[in-house]
Amino acid sequence: MNNPQLNARGELQHLLSVEGLPRETLLHILATADSFVGLTDRDVKKVPLLRGKSVFNLFFENSTRTRTTFEIAAKRLSADVINLNINTSSTSKGESLLDTVDNLSAMHADMFIVRHASSGAPYQIARHVTPHPHLHVVNAGDGRHAHPTQGLLDLYTIRHYKKEFSQLSVAVIGDVLHSRVARSLIHGLTTLGVPDVRVIGPKTLLPAGVEQLGVKVFHDMNKGMAGVDVVAMLRLQNERMNGPLLPSAQEFFKSYGLTPEKLALAKPDAIVMHPGPMNRGVEIDSAVADGPSSVILPQVTFGIAVRMAVMSILAGN
Ligand code: CP
Repeated sequence: MNNPQLNARGELQHLLSVEGLPRETLLHILATADSFVGLTDRDVKKVPLLRGKSVFNLFFENSTRTRTTFEIAAKRLSADVINLNINTSSTSKGESLLDTVDNLSAMHADMFIVRHASSGAPYQIARHVTPHPHLHVVNAGDGRHAHPTQGLLDLYTIRHYKKEFSQLSVAVIGDVLHSRVARSLIHGLTTLGVPDVRVIGPKTLLPAGVEQLGVKVFHDMNKGMAGVDVVAMLRLQNERMNGPLLPSAQEFFKSYGLTPEKLALAKPDAIVMHPGPMNRGVEIDSAVADGPSSVILPQVTFGIAVRMAVMSILAGN
């Protein structure tokens, strides 16, 4: 089947989803990110790989980490960065998404970084710009579907702390049903050969048929946490829930909140990740979020190098 992310030569044309990306492509992105982590370690702030290119941040949904780290990453690659303020743009006057894209393309855009509440919006843009092969689209989170650069930075973080993927047990915990982060991470883990990927959550927050993604399902967190190397917590996505799926946030925390006691069931050197924004006391206890196992802030920092890698590869470097 035609992969909308790859061009005829099998090279990355757009980054829309981790699902469907070859293992070699994932490893190439992680290896390229290594070189950018090294650069920033050496205090070399800028490289000219995107000099003369215009990167447009189109965030139709709120963001702190993704929007800002894309901006930092693009600037470190020497691109011109334009942050479209959606609230004051002509979108608020009824202009369609594709008309907005056409107008920005007429301003010589080279790359669109798109976050949208509708699953599939970045695909729609990628299809629309097909006649312009110099244009690239990066999905920065679409509905509950995919958040590929978050999945990639999660993979980068895991590899940084655990070195290789082939012996790992990873638990993804919480609101998997509404989580684009979970889907991208799970596809990445299974593509890279992680033998034991678990999802833990109440029935109401796990997608029907989630086993088909190659994961083991646990409803009892105490059982699911046993002996894992990586604990990936998820935010309760209240904004995407249609009606009450949980008795209360307090009840959820009792059963599925990550406390020091529950973390003690994992391996002693287990790492704890969270994509942010965190709801302390709902899905994670502050003692864990700020504790020695937490790699939540390093995830954010690695996100810069991973996003530099993605943009640099898309631009043909
Ligand atoms: N993880 C993540 O996507 O965070 P933001 O919503 O702040 O971008």
